Amino acid sequence: MNGFMNTHIPEKSKVAISFPGRSDFRVVPPNEAYVRVFDRSFHFGDSVYEVVRTYDGVLFGMKEHTDRLRNSMKLGLWAHLPDFSLIERMIKDTCRQYFSEFGRKDLYVRVTVSRGIGDTNIDPTTCGQPYAVVIAKEIPPAPDWHATKGVEFATVQRRRNSHEALPPSMKSGNYLNNVLAIVEAKHNGGSDAVMVNAHGFVTEGTTNNLFIVKNGVVWTPSMDAGILEGITRAMILNLCRQHKIPVEERLFTIQDVFSCEELFLSSTTREIVPITKLDGQAIGNAKPGPVTVSLRKLLREHIASEVKKQPSLFEMV
Ligand code: PDD
Repeated sequence: MNGFMNTHIPEKSKVAISFPGRSDFRVVPPNEAYVRVFDRSFHFGDSVYEVVRTYDGVLFGMKEHTDRLRNSMKLGLWAHLPDFSLIERMIKDTCRQYFSEFGRKDLYVRVTVSRGIGDTNIDPTTCGQPYAVVIAKEIPPAPDWHATKGVEFATVQRRRNSHEALPPSMKSGNYLNNVLAIVEAKHNGGSDAVMVNAHGFVTEGTTNNLFIVKNGVVWTPSMDAGILEGITRAMILNLCRQHKIPVEERLFTIQDVFSCEELFLSSTTREIVPITKLDGQAIGNAKPGPVTVSLRKLLREHIASEVKKQPSLFEMV
């Protein structure tokens, strides 16, 4: 026990930390897991991250998440890359240790890679090698009403970062844009925000992608709106195409959202969740719509069939 004991740290979690420039790592109790004060992620948000999850002990979409992690480093102009095979070992080991200590849960696995530890100098050539932190904790099952009634979002004045400023397709540790948006959304009575860009086009929620159904067609903001290229979003686009559900990646405004039939979010941890109110106003008839319900089912079936094809970490515990 030490002076930093903090009850907000999830007790049932496992943390692994690697060492800059080395190929080993340590799994540490969450209350003893620290980053250095000279870490660039602490000073500048100079890190990149991914949230992967497990289903029945299977790490889902690892290749897609690793590719996006790599792409975030490219967009962040990293001169040194970490050892990706080490990161994969860290992820698997942290999950296994979680399962053996706390049981077979579905896990949220957050992988953060810091550009490095250095001086307080903003110039990244003054820091050392990157290193990684992996946090695994349970994904608590979503309350039933999320799917049956839907959640409420709010519009916000805060604009999504532009490509030219901080590319939203880079999943960096600098989420202040989204932090400010969710604070404003909560103040406005929503659980999350529909963020628009500087030109007034809809982008995404603070940690999720958005879809609307308009005249029977599924619309989702195109990449040029300034969004994270969601892995769940990509699965939904594929499912629409496979099942002949008309779909368009395009630009649209908040007025299109207020007048649409259905609105929903997508993310790794939440899959698809209907959004039935915006700023207190009903979207459609304020109930999860038929397209959302059927896409949610198709997505869950797709995930379940992919999970069956892969080895489970449970067997190795
Ligand atoms: N968030 N947009 C933003 C800004 C995000 O942070 C995320 C992911 C998404 C959805 O992407 P995906 O389907 O690949 O998870 C969209 C994760 C879940 C998080 O930060 O917790």
